[in-house]
Amino acid sequence: MCGIVGYIGTQAASSILIEGLKTLEYRGYDSAGVATISEGQLQRTRAKGKLKNLQVKLEGLEDPARLGIGHTRWATHGKPEEHNAHPHTDTKERIAVVQNGIIENYRELREELKAKGHEFRSDTDTEVIPHLIAEYLENPTGDAVLTEQSRLLEAARHAMTRLEGAFAIALISLDFPDELIVVRQQAPLVIGFGQGEFFCASDTPAIMPYTQAVLTLENGEIARLTPLGAEVYDFTGHRLKKYPQTLNWNPIMVEKQGFKHFMLKEIYEQPGVVRTCLETYLDTAWDTQSSHSPIKLNLPDALLDDLQHVQILACGTSWHASLVGKYLLEQVSGIPTVVQYASEFRYAPAPLMPHTLTIGVTQSGETADTLAALDMEQQRRSKSGNADYSPRMLGITNRADSSLSRLVPHIVDTKAGLEIGVAATKTFVAQLMAFYFLSLDLAYRRQAISLERLAEIIEGLRQLPAQLELVLESQERYVEELSHDFSETRDFIFIGRGINYPIALEGALKLKEISYIHAEGYPAGEMKHGPIALLDEKVPVVAIATKGTVYEKVLSNAQEAKARDARLIGVVPMNDPDAEETFDALLPVPNVDELLSPILTVVPLQLLSYHIAARRGLDVDQPRNLAKSVTVE
Ligand code: AGP
Repeated sequence: MCGIVGYIGTQAASSILIEGLKTLEYRGYDSAGVATISEGQLQRTRAKGKLKNLQVKLEGLEDPARLGIGHTRWATHGKPEEHNAHPHTDTKERIAVVQNGIIENYRELREELKAKGHEFRSDTDTEVIPHLIAEYLENPTGDAVLTEQSRLLEAARHAMTRLEGAFAIALISLDFPDELIVVRQQAPLVIGFGQGEFFCASDTPAIMPYTQAVLTLENGEIARLTPLGAEVYDFTGHRLKKYPQTLNWNPIMVEKQGFKHFMLKEIYEQPGVVRTCLETYLDTAWDTQSSHSPIKLNLPDALLDDLQHVQILACGTSWHASLVGKYLLEQVSGIPTVVQYASEFRYAPAPLMPHTLTIGVTQSGETADTLAALDMEQQRRSKSGNADYSPRMLGITNRADSSLSRLVPHIVDTKAGLEIGVAATKTFVAQLMAFYFLSLDLAYRRQAISLERLAEIIEGLRQLPAQLELVLESQERYVEELSHDFSETRDFIFIGRGINYPIALEGALKLKEISYIHAEGYPAGEMKHGPIALLDEKVPVVAIATKGTVYEKVLSNAQEAKARDARLIGVVPMNDPDAEETFDALLPVPNVDELLSPILTVVPLQLLSYHIAARRGLDVDQPRNLAKSVTVE
C-alpha cells in the first residue's frame, strides 16, 4: 500500500517523481504529493484523490529542483484529505518525509514530541517521523558512529530505532540539500543507480525507465544517497557492503499496448504466461520411459520427501489459487492439505503437524499478513526442538525479488511478468500452473500417479495456451454484449463444485472488486442449505459446469436455481447439448480434463467482470478502496 519515490541527481526531480508515481499508483490512490528542494526552498505540493489532481496543481510551476520525494497514498491513519497527504514535515517545515507502512507506536511518540513543543498538522502516524528527526538534529543523543557530514543520517537513524511497525521511508531536509535518506523496515524499498544520480522507489517499475541497476534494501537498513554515491548502514550505524544487481524487466511491461485497461491486456497475456511456465518448468524431452520427474522446479529432496501434510497460507485471489492447489495436492499427489487465510492463521495457528510443507502464496511477495504468518510459522517450527516439526518453507510468487524470497529459502517464480491491474488475472493463472507442477512432481516422487496418467496430464497442459487463445477469441465480443444485460444488476451468485468451486469464488471476487456489485461464490451443492433463498429473477447465477466427476450434479444445482426464476449463465464445455438446454447464456470453453479446467473456466469470468465494470464506466485498473499490494495488517 502507498508508493514512495525519490530522486537525487542532475535532472529535474519533479517530472521523475510524477512519472514514478504514475507507475506506483496501483499501490494506493487516495491522495498524492511531492516535496522538492532547490535554491534554499522546500517546496511541497499535495492533493486529495488521484495523481492527476496533483498534476493539475503542479502544471505551469517551474521547479528547478534536482532533489525530491513523492508519495501516492492508501489511507490507514487519517482520512484521505489533503492535510493527511504525504510528504509530511516537521514544525519548521525543513524536513519532509514520505512513508509506506504503519508506525504502531505513533500515539506515544506524538505525545512525547508535543510535550517538547512540536506542532502536528495531520491525523497520520507518519507525521511523527519528521518531528522526531528534527528533535534528534537539534538535540543529538546516543552513540554517534557517523561523521559530522552525516548528521541527517545520524538523526534519521536514531529516529528509526524509536519506531515500531513495518515501514519504508524516504526523506529530505532543507539543511542537507545534497542528501536523500531512505529506510526499509518490513516494507519494500529499492534504490536505482544512475550516472551521478540515484532513485528510490517502493517498486522497481518506477525506476525502470532510468536504470536497470537496482539495490533492494533489506529490513533494518538505512541508506544515504548523494550525487557522489550511496552508503548503506544498519540501524546500529555500521556501514554495510552492498552492490546493485541488474534487472531483467523491460519498460514495455508497464504500457497498455493498445488495450483500454491493464486488466484487459493482462487477461490477454494469459496464453503467453502459460506458455512461459511450460517452457520453464516442464521437461520437453520427458516420456514414460524417462527415469526422472518431468517437472523442473529444482526444489531439494529434503523439502519434498516424506511429506505427511501441506499447509498453505495466502490471502485474496492467492487464497483461491491455493484452494485449487489443495484439490491437486490431495487428489493427484495424495497429501492431506489445509489452506488458511494468512490473516487468520497468525492469531490462531493450528497445532503443529509433523513432516509438513508450508507454502506461502503471494503474487506480490509483499502481502504483510502472508509474510507475517510465514515468519511466525518458520519460527514456531524452528523453536519446537523436534526434527519432525522442523520448518520446510516454500514460496510461490510472481516477484522473485520480493520480501517473500528473503523470508523463505525456496521459491517457485510464477513468471507472469508485471501485473498492474489491481484485480489479479494472469498471476492467478500462473499460480495455478505452479500448483500443477508441484502436485505432479510430488505425485511422481511418491508414485501416487501412473506414468500413463502423468503423460496424459502433461499433454493436456501443453494444449492449454492454444485453448486459452480460442476462449479469448471466441468469447470477448459475446461477453461484452452479454454485459449490457447487467447494467442494473445488484447481486450475482457464482456456483461450482470440486476443482471449480474456487473458480466460483474467484469469479465473485473479480466482480466485487471492480464493478462493486455484490457477488457470492458458493459450492453448488450448498445452495439448497440457505443461499437459494436469495434467488429470484433479478439475481443471475453463473454456474461452472465442466465434464468430470461433478458435471451432472452442477447441472442439477443449476436447474434448482432456474426453478427459482434465476437467469442462468453457464461456463460449460463447447458443443454440449445438455448445457445448451439448461442455460440461458453460454460461455463455452474447450472440453478438457477436469483437472485442467480451472485454467480455462476462470477466463470467461474475468472477461465478464471486466466488461460489466468497463460498461459502468468504473476505474477498472484502480478500483476504489483497494491497492495492489497490501503491505499493512
Ligand atoms: C486480487 O484480485 C486482489 N487484488 C487481492 O485479493 C489479492 O489477491 C490479495 O491482496 C493478495 O495479494 P498477493 O497475492 O500479492 O499476496
